[in-house]
Amino acid sequence: MAEATAPGKVILCGEHFVVYGEPAIVAAIDLKAHAYASFRDEPGIHVYSSKVSENTLKPIHDVIKLLVESRGTKLIDKGLMVSINSNIPISAGLGSSAAVSVASILAVSKLLGFKLKKSEVVALGVKAEEIIHGRPSGIDPTISVYGGMLVFKIGGRIRRIKPARPIELIIADSGLKRSTGVMVRRVGELASKHPTIFSRLRSTARIIVRQAIEAIIEGDIEKLGVMLNLNHGLLSAIGVSNTRLEKLIYAAREAGALGSKITGAGGGGCIIAIARPGESDRIVSSLIDAGAEAVYRTRIVEVGAR
Ligand code: PMV
Repeated sequence: MAEATAPGKVILCGEHFVVYGEPAIVAAIDLKAHAYASFRDEPGIHVYSSKVSENTLKPIHDVIKLLVESRGTKLIDKGLMVSINSNIPISAGLGSSAAVSVASILAVSKLLGFKLKKSEVVALGVKAEEIIHGRPSGIDPTISVYGGMLVFKIGGRIRRIKPARPIELIIADSGLKRSTGVMVRRVGELASKHPTIFSRLRSTARIIVRQAIEAIIEGDIEKLGVMLNLNHGLLSAIGVSNTRLEKLIYAAREAGALGSKITGAGGGGCIIAIARPGESDRIVSSLIDAGAEAVYRTRIVEVGAR
């Protein structure tokens, strides 16, 4: 049997606008997907998880098939079994599907002795995301493969950034499931109906991301907090927030968060908040009181998939 693991992620700034070529800041977190690949006696590829249906895992099946076939590997009289175990909440904006794809691709590569470059694993992860939601930027598989904190831009070089000070990050799950594909399409409709306004919002998002990068590198978490709040304003403007998410976001701010925003596609899923050192407890209880389904205190992890 071969095993691989891959982290989930949070987007600190720049989601949605990243699909249109703007930069975004993303960090790997200590929630992980594990995949175990082994041979089985029956032919074919079988992908299994106790949490989701086989149909939901079809994109991963298809990408593994593509990988095996592209290497000209013939599995005569035997097949592959890929079993998945993940503690990343599903459809919540934390990169669960990308982490599961990346871990599965790596586990199968190990089992079959393929030596894949990081960029090849990302490319296969992006293929799976394309099947799942149509128009991915590639940010989720990229961070899951590389780990740490990155500035990501479609077609750009990956830039690693190092926070000058540790960032106390809290994640709250609204418990509302939504589809990234649906949210990305809705934003697309708004962008094509109101191109002038959308282009202004895009350039504002770019400036916010630049200032947030500076804040992270300088260790200015007060400024980072302001950037998160401004970024959230843009996400509300493009219609990906709702009452449940706003309630969590304001609960965090009222409990002393320096900044809070949706993370990922919105419409449900998770919000993030950052706190001054030692001030997370009050924010966590306030998020629970405000109805969060789960609250996580997270660490940014340096290692990506392995
Ligand atoms: O799948 P999510 O919710 O983590 O969203 C990913 C971020 C988006 O910018 C909304 C989509 C993308 O592919 O970049």
